[in-house]
Amino acid sequence: MNAMNKEEYHFNYAVYDSIEALDPGDAALLAEARKVTAAAYAPYSRFNVGAVARLANGQTVAGTNQENASYPAGLCAERVLLSSAATLFPNMAIETMAISYHNMNGESDHPISPCGICRQSLAEYQERTKHPIRLLLSGMQGKIYVIENAGMLLPLSFGSADLR
Ligand code: THU
Repeated sequence: MNAMNKEEYHFNYAVYDSIEALDPGDAALLAEARKVTAAAYAPYSRFNVGAVARLANGQTVAGTNQENASYPAGLCAERVLLSSAATLFPNMAIETMAISYHNMNGESDHPISPCGICRQSLAEYQERTKHPIRLLLSGMQGKIYVIENAGMLLPLSFGSADLR
């Protein structure tokens, strides 16, 4: 008799030493994400985040974090991007999303990865477009993490199928 099983979850990601090690398309997307951090509205955290995605139709869409004096009203760069993409290009798959940032000291030498709420939003975007979103995560310099499927960041996720 065996009333209990242990399950395991693995995920892997690639680590590149710098933007020069990426292929030219990925390098260009990351360069855009680094640049668009300047458009963040982050007077409270002074933590600027920029995201740029390449869609299946070849278009790019950007997002930056947009904060508010009522703190919970603020939005992360990733969800601003997803809302724009879904509005400008309905049902268009996202191939790759690059995310960069810098903090109040202008420092950003390591990758950050999307917060929990954004992981949930990324998972649903993947589900509705039936296409994995590849992530390029990096600061303004230094290493880049490449994650082939954003859904891998949210194991045992809650989704639309659970509501039925
Ligand atoms: N933020 C993002 O935009 N994306 C992330 O992946 C992490 C956090 C924003 C939210 C808030 O405006 C600021 O960064 C500090 O948390």
